[in-house]
Amino acid sequence: MPQQARALRAEASRADFLPFHVPAIGPEEIAAVVEVLKSGWLTSGAKVREFEQQFARLVGAREAVAVNSATAALHLALAAIGIEEGDEVIVPTMTFAATAEVVLYLRARPVLVDCSRDTLNIDPAAIEAALTPRTRAIIPVHFAGQPCQSDAILALARSHDAKVIEDAAHALPAWDGARMIGGIGDITCFSFYATKTITTGEGGMATTDNPEWAGKMRMLSLHGISHDAWKRYSSEGSWYYEIINVGYKYNLTDLAASLGLQQLKKCHAFAAARRRIAEAYNDGFADLAEIQTPVCRAGVQHAWHLYVIQLELDRLTIDRREFIEALRQRNIGASVHFIPLHLHPYYRRTFDYRPEDCANAAAVYERIVSLPIYPGMSDDDVADVIVAVRNVVEGHRR
Ligand SMILES: Cc1ncc(COP(=O)(O)O)c(C=O)c1O
Repeated sequence: MPQQARALRAEASRADFLPFHVPAIGPEEIAAVVEVLKSGWLTSGAKVREFEQQFARLVGAREAVAVNSATAALHLALAAIGIEEGDEVIVPTMTFAATAEVVLYLRARPVLVDCSRDTLNIDPAAIEAALTPRTRAIIPVHFAGQPCQSDAILALARSHDAKVIEDAAHALPAWDGARMIGGIGDITCFSFYATKTITTGEGGMATTDNPEWAGKMRMLSLHGISHDAWKRYSSEGSWYYEIINVGYKYNLTDLAASLGLQQLKKCHAFAAARRRIAEAYNDGFADLAEIQTPVCRAGVQHAWHLYVIQLELDRLTIDRREFIEALRQRNIGASVHFIPLHLHPYYRRTFDYRPEDCANAAAVYERIVSLPIYPGMSDDDVADVIVAVRNVVEGHRR
């Protein structure tokens, strides 16, 4: 939008509410789901296999195992590498509930560590300080879609014979140098939850180069039985199966996979749209001393699942809650990612965490605001967000 028109609208709110997120579902997705509905096979079958193959090819991994959430993928990844009671798994505090709770499913201990203040990604120095002889895995989260420092994290893990299970719920597609996220760590877990960069409604994928782990995750994802339902009931399979282990009901459906296959085709176009919005925001806020725009590490390609600004609260007369409320009054949806895990009652109560144990995360938590960023936003929507943010800042300068 031209600068002049933007200035003219500076005081105005949008007429309608701009949601924080809207999934990008087109006629192709709808047709693909209808085709599966008519096919006679709704649950895990040929569409899931195709989705796995195409996903593995996209990220450069040997194997991809489709499941019904990233939480399930993370759980199975930890089970596949043999995490058990008494083990420690290093998890960033700046993440969603799922990243740490899967460790607790296996009766191991999540050891929460701090983030860097600028990127909000897990801090390798904090990992190093948390390593013990009991550390069996590290779960870096590529926060907002920006790759963590993979080489440093892999080196730290190897120094303690630990595995790296990447939480890439935000990071499709993203690159650390020339390597795409999904083909770097021991196992990488993606999310296709409704708000993620591609969606199947609910869904997830675990990628790995290790066929043994992939086989174990596949077996555990469907009750620990030796053949999946597709093989049992289709013409290529038999009625016979064996329960090899206690498993879970984590399989993805063909309905969801058909949606995922269409979304996968658009993955790079979606990413380009998100990148354009991030660039527009960076430009739109560049002269505001009250706002720190996201800091990107050189040499990485960010997936821009989230666009998280940090408020310079000492330059404003309002706090973060009031800032989000002021955006809402201007018809702009916003959110917060994340409330650090070590501040939540469960973790404080169970592991005796205090805010200062992860001081960077506790400090930035007060300042972070996630702005809308999704491919369905028009140029006017993006301009409206910029205008609203500027308007709130200008009206509340200290
Ligand atoms: C960092 C992170 N990890 C894991 C998850 C869990 O994903 P899912 O909802 O697919 O289980 C999320 C979901 O928001 C997330 O943000």
